[in-house]
Amino acid sequence: MTGEQEASTSVPWTDDAFWAATRQPIEDASAMPAACYADQSFFDLENEKVFETAWVCVGTANELNAPGQVLVRKLGTRSVLLMRTEAGELRGFYNSCRHRGTELFANDCTAGATLRCPYHRWGYDRDGVLNTTPLFEEVAINDFDPADFSLHPVRTAQWGCLLFACADPNTVELDEWFGDLTERVANYQLENWSTRLEVDLEMNANWKLISENYQEYYHVPWIHPELAKVSRVADHYRFQGPGMYCGQTTTPITESTRDDWTVMPKAVTLNEGEEVSGRFLALFPNVLLSLLPNHAFVLRLEPLGTGKTREHCTWLLPPGNEKISDEDFAATRDFWLDINNEDIDIVERNQRGISQGGYTPGRLSPRFEEPLHRFYNMLADHMTDTVRVPTGDTDALPAYGEGTNPHPWTKN
Ligand code: FES
Ligand SMILES: [Fe+2]
Repeated sequence: MTGEQEASTSVPWTDDAFWAATRQPIEDASAMPAACYADQSFFDLENEKVFETAWVCVGTANELNAPGQVLVRKLGTRSVLLMRTEAGELRGFYNSCRHRGTELFANDCTAGATLRCPYHRWGYDRDGVLNTTPLFEEVAINDFDPADFSLHPVRTAQWGCLLFACADPNTVELDEWFGDLTERVANYQLENWSTRLEVDLEMNANWKLISENYQEYYHVPWIHPELAKVSRVADHYRFQGPGMYCGQTTTPITESTRDDWTVMPKAVTLNEGEEVSGRFLALFPNVLLSLLPNHAFVLRLEPLGTGKTREHCTWLLPPGNEKISDEDFAATRDFWLDINNEDIDIVERNQRGISQGGYTPGRLSPRFEEPLHRFYNMLADHMTDTVRVPTGDTDALPAYGEGTNPHPWTKN
């Protein structure tokens, strides 16, 4: 291959130079280039550098409530299984039989105490230990110890109401990954919240555009005119400490013009500020977590291609709200579906405009788009193998909100 040919086939995504404009302080920084959203080789490398190294959200804890439940999920190109032992401990394994590698499960399912490979029926217990090999030892082979052929484990952790998995043994523990966020949302006691509704949607947009759109409220007055009546631009504040997340808070969340937030009782564990605030958190890389006083709305993003993403939407309610009637839940359900539909239209249009030629990166608004800048830098860190947990805002909250925030986050 000639040098010229090499240049035409090499990709710059891991070079610092590719990220230089994005890496500038926000007052000087540019948005990300089109390739980040529309180039197949970028998408492939992103799977490896981000989704196969990060703590990736793979579901809600409620999805493992049914006895024997097994979840089949993707970490980049890798397929992993999640389950609980009889004692309730979370386990994760690669979805590959230790005999000759067959995929153990194609879809979420329930299984007994023994996980059976469909090919030659080797079986594993819920700790991944090989415990049955039908007919295999009728003719002995040398040095075969079933203990050497347990399923390969993958790291898993539950964080509040969410399940995470990580394919990289060198990534920091989940507590360090999320920094101060665990403490910030501790009062919600999300591990006790239960799923009310799940809806899956497919969007014709790159997963990052969905996250970016969620992270900025710049678009609210024009894309969500109804929302803008109750979620005023001036009531938004940054909500970021050290950790792999970008956050904002809206406080107060509403006045009396709509009853969406008030029909269902609030969680009883919240402090005064939390009772009148919404927390809107983009956990890097793939989950958008909206915490309201009486419900949570989770968007888990599953990248399917450069311009295609599956959104797993889950509504969760705090303890005591399980018996809320469908009628009383409907306002909250429809509120999010309406907002999400408005976002889908504009984000798909964003994807088309980036992909159809003529796009060069624009500039960012420090007031509205600082979380995106933080997110871009997390992505750049991963693509250039310089991952670090970002520090948070060091200035006094609120940094970019207008006026005095009546309900800032405090540790008390
Ligand atoms: S490949 Fe699984 S038992 Fe043979
Ligand atoms: Fe929006």
